[in-house]
Amino acid sequence: MPLVNLKPVLAEAKSKGYAVAAFNPLDYASMKAMVAAAEELNAPVIIQTSAKTINYYGHRALVEWMREIAADSPIPAVLHLDHGKDFDMIRKCIEMGWTSVMIDASDHPFEKNLELSRKVVDLATAANVGVEAEIGQILGVEDDMVVTEEESHLTDPNEAEKFCRELDLSAFAAAIGTAHGYYKGEPKVAFELIEEINRRTNTPMALHGGTGLSDEVIQRCIKLGCAKINISTNLKHVFIDSFVNYHREKPSDYEPLRVLGAQFQAMKDLFKSKIEQFGGANRAGDVLSKVA
Ligand code: 13P
Repeated sequence: MPLVNLKPVLAEAKSKGYAVAAFNPLDYASMKAMVAAAEELNAPVIIQTSAKTINYYGHRALVEWMREIAADSPIPAVLHLDHGKDFDMIRKCIEMGWTSVMIDASDHPFEKNLELSRKVVDLATAANVGVEAEIGQILGVEDDMVVTEEESHLTDPNEAEKFCRELDLSAFAAAIGTAHGYYKGEPKVAFELIEEINRRTNTPMALHGGTGLSDEVIQRCIKLGCAKINISTNLKHVFIDSFVNYHREKPSDYEPLRVLGAQFQAMKDLFKSKIEQFGGANRAGDVLSKVA
C-alpha cells in the first residue's frame, strides 16, 4: 500500500496505549527487513531516514526503495525524516514523497524554534505530510549531531504546552533524560516530566534514544504517553556484528548473498523484538481504518 502520514498512525497508538517502533535504515535491505518484520507481526512501522543517510544515498533512491517496498506490503508504513535541521533538505523530502518530517530547531531559542517549526508545519500540512518537532536538547551522538552534557537540557513543560498549542504536530520530541547512543550507566529518565508534558500537550510523544533502555523504563514511558520510540544505535550494532560474525564462524564462505541473508535475518529479528516490546503487534488493521 502507499506510504502513510505519521499523524493518524500516532494518534491511534496514543489512544490505544502503545508505541510505534521507528527505525533508522542503513540501506535497502534494512528498509525491507523493517517492513518484513512489521508484516510478520501485522504492525504499523516508521522508517526514518537521518540526514546523513540522505546525504549518502540521495533523496530519490531512498524514496523509491521505500515506495516499492511499501507497495508490496499490506501494512501501514511511514517514511519519516529524523532530525531535519536543513530547511532545503526538509522541503525536498516533502516534495519527493516522505510522509512525515522532523524539524529539529531545538538548538535555537524558543521563539525562533517556534518560527522555524511553524514554517515546516505549514508546508508539510498542505502536502498531507506529518511533522515532529522538538524542544529541549537530547543528549548524545546521533550520526553527525553531537549534543554534549553541557548543551543538553530537559524540556520546559510551559514551553512544551505553548509550542504544541501553537503547532498542529503529529509528534512532539521532548528531552526527558534519554540519550542517543548506548548509555554509560543508568539513564536518568524524568518520568514526572513525561507525565506532565503529555498531560499539558496532549500530543503523541516521540521517545528518542531508545537503544539500551530497560523494558521497565520502556513500558513506563509508553504508559505515560510515548507513542513513537526511536531505535538507531541498536541496528548499527546488529548490522555490523551479524556480518562480521557470520564470516568469523564460516571463514571460507565467500558467497555474499548468504552473508547478506544472515544479516537480513538478524535485523528482522531485532525489529520484531522491538515492535512486540512496544505493543505494536496486531495493530495494523486498526491503523489502516484510520488512515484510509
Ligand atoms: P538511539 O541511537 O539511542 O537508538 O536513538 C535513536 C534516535 O533517537 C534517533 O533519533
